[in-house]
Amino acid sequence: AYVIGLPCVDVKDRSCIEECPVDCIYEGRRALYIHPDECVDCGACEPVCPVDAIYFQDDLPEEWGADHAASNAAFFEG
Ligand code: SF4
Ligand code: F3S
Repeated sequence: AYVIGLPCVDVKDRSCIEECPVDCIYEGRRALYIHPDECVDCGACEPVCPVDAIYFQDDLPEEWGADHAASNAAFFEG
C-alpha cells in the first residue's frame, strides 16, 4: 500500500483524495491516512501531493518510519 507521511501534517492539501479511485484516503485531525487494506497501489495520489508526502510503503524515508507506521495503525484501529 501507499502511505502518507509527515509532510501532510497540518497541510492537508487534499488533492490526493480527488485522485484515489477507491476512496481509501481518510481524514484525521492533523493529517490524512491511506487505509492499507483498501489501497490498490495504483499510484495516482503520489504525484499530486504538493509537499511530497506520499510514498509506496517500502520507499518511505527512514526518518519517518516507525512513528508514522504507529500513527497510521492507531488511526485505523480507531
Ligand atoms: Fe488510492 Fe491509488 Fe493512492 Fe492507493 S495508490 S491511496 S488506491 S490513489
Ligand atoms: Fe496531505 Fe498531500 Fe494529500 S498534503 S492531504 S497527502 S495531497
